[in-house]
Order: sequence, then structure tokens, then C-alpha cells
Amino acid sequence: MSASASFIDVQDLSKHFDVSAPLLNRLIEGKAKQNLIAVDGVSFQIERGTTLAFVGESGCGKSTVAKLLVGLYEPTDGSVHMQGVDVHACYRSAQALQLRRRVQMIFQDPYASLNPRWNVQDIVAEPLLEHGLLSDVKEVEQRVGELLSQVGLNPLDRVKFPHQFSGGQTQRISIARALATQPEFLVCDEPTSALDVSVQAQVLNIMQDLQTQHGLTYLFISHNLAVVRHVSDRVGVMYLGRLVELAPTDQLFSNPQHPYTRMLLEAIPKLRNTGRSRTPVQGDVPNPLNPPSGCTFHPRCPQATDRCKQERPALQTIGGIQIACHSVT
Ligand SMILES: Nc1ncnc2c1ncn2[C@@H]1O[C@H](COP(=O)(O)OP(=O)(O)OP(=O)(O)O)[C@@H](O)[C@H]1O
Ligand code: SF4
Ligand SMILES: [Mg+2]
Repeated sequence: MSASASFIDVQDLSKHFDVSAPLLNRLIEGKAKQNLIAVDGVSFQIERGTTLAFVGESGCGKSTVAKLLVGLYEPTDGSVHMQGVDVHACYRSAQALQLRRRVQMIFQDPYASLNPRWNVQDIVAEPLLEHGLLSDVKEVEQRVGELLSQVGLNPLDRVKFPHQFSGGQTQRISIARALATQPEFLVCDEPTSALDVSVQAQVLNIMQDLQTQHGLTYLFISHNLAVVRHVSDRVGVMYLGRLVELAPTDQLFSNPQHPYTRMLLEAIPKLRNTGRSRTPVQGDVPNPLNPPSGCTFHPRCPQATDRCKQERPALQTIGGIQIACHSVT
């Protein structure tokens, strides 16, 4: 059991991928094995009924964290506890199905995550049947209708197929399907990134209403800082597999501390013309197979010192936020 009272408690979570060339090539070319460290000792908590968002540039490990949390990946190191239960031990046990019922994931591309040959009834009913929640045909039909109504779709739409819907409607179908098992924890990986801006807000509002109605807990991953500001209670900023800042949303946006967080915020287009010009994100994310020494952000950091090149900053709690930077004390 975990000592923490948090709903979700993640400690020192890591995921390494073996990206070595095939053995024969390695022997002929004299190459060593290669490990890619996608997630590197990440710790965080999520309180019940709240939303933690993760932001960061492409390749920083957001989706890998998401997949670790829902049990699609085994961690290389570290642990995830949900209400004191070690989820990876549970996924390996006879209780796995019960846990899968409580934790669901919503993916970025709704078309790719739904079976195109199934109609909406079959798609939304599948988890009900898989988990043995209902078996009576009439009851299943009624429950699918209720789930569709919850996400703002017409229950009569159950006979249609995914290609007959717009992107926003299709994402609503995947949300209805995810809700079928009455989960408590939803991991949402870029759930609105593939949608037109005009329908993003509708889907986000539905997700927020569902959170209030059902007390859902969310891990919400997005590139879009404006979206994150709208939906989250706290925000974690990731860089090359590590958390560099984690703070309440208002605080992160009004008073960002980490130089990388500031760089990301400077790049957001301003809604009103404040006279300040927008500064594009500077430089590129380094190759994760050959990360820079010390603070991995140092080649791009305007405040980098010699210490930063040698010593990796630990994530510390300072002034109510968590931050990993030598210049913030
Ligand atoms: N199955 C895998 N095998 C090998 N490397 C992987 C695998 N999955 C992810 N990676 C690598 O791990 C790193 C983190 O990838 P991840 O998909 O978690 O990033 P991300 O933050 O979700 O990026 P994006 O914003 O583009 O979705 C990347 O360097 C990626 O290439
Ligand atoms: S530790 Fe140094 S290089 Fe890293 S973000 Fe802080 S100031 Fe910049
Ligand atoms: Mg991703």
C-alpha cells in the first residue's frame, strides 16, 4: 500500500525502450545496445475529481506516461498507485479486468481508435459486454442510448458507422464508449488536437460537465496551452522525459518559474494585442538517444551556467510548486 492519500500516486516512474539494431547488425558493425529513455523518474499525484495536464514539445514522453498509467506499458522502474493499489501488480493479477473498468483512455485520433466496420451500438456496447455489466439486449440498447445522450449525441445514431460522423462527433462516440464502464480515472491523450478549433470547445465542455457529474479524475495531455489553461487544475511541464515544473494552473500561467515553461508561454499567440511580440520557441529538442549532460535543457536555456552543464537539477518543492532548475531557489 502507498502511504500517500492521493487518488493517483506516481513515484519515480521510468520507461526505457530498447532501440538497438538487430543483433547480427550490431555484431558486424561493432555497435553497442541502445536504450532510449522516454520517461525518466517522474513523480506526481492527482487528487480525486481534479485534472492534471501534461504539456511539452513532441517526444518529451507525454504519451508514454499515459500508456504507463493505463497499463499499456510496464514500467522499467517506479510505481503507479491508485487509491493505494499498485496498478501494474494488479494488471498482472486476476483483478486486471476490474481495474481496466475503472481506468479508461481517450486517444487523439477518434477514427483510428474506433473499429470502422462496427456501428455505434456495437462500439459503445462492447465494454458493457466485455465487463459483463449487462447482457439483456434491451438493457444494453437502453444504456447505449443513455451514454450517447450524455455526450450530446442522438440515441438514434446508434445504427450509424464512424465514417458517417464528423471528427467532433466521432470523439464523442469514443468518450461514450470510455464512459460505458463508469470509470473513475480517464487518461486523455490529445483528445481534441485532431478536431477543428470550433468543435474543440464543445468536446472540452462535455468532458468538463462529465467530470462534475461523475467526479471523474483526469490526466489530460495536450500541446495546446490555451486548452490546458481552460481545463486543468494543475499543470506538469515535461522536457526530455522529466518533469521540470508542476504548479497550480493559475500560478503556472501568471508566474512561470522554469525557463522552459517561460519559453513555451512566450510562444502562445496573444488574444489581445499587448504590444509584446510573440517569441517562437527557440531551438530544437535534443536527440533523446544522446541527451545533453547536466540539465538537459541547458543548450537552449538563456540562463544556463557552467553548473547547469554538469549537474542535473532535482525536482524540488519551492513556494508551493515543484521545479527542477538551479536558477530557482
Ligand atoms: N514504442 C516505442 N519504441 C521506441 N521508442 C519509443 C516508443 N514510444 C515512444 N518512443 C520514443 O520515446 C520518446 C517519447 O515519446 P512519446 O510518444 O511519449 O512523446 P510525446 O510527448 O507523446 O510526443 P508527441 O507530442 O509527439 O505525441 C520519443 O523519443 C519516442 O520516439
Ligand atoms: S538548470 Fe540551468 S540550464 Fe536548466 S533550466 Fe535552470 S538555468 Fe536553465
Ligand atoms: Mg504523444
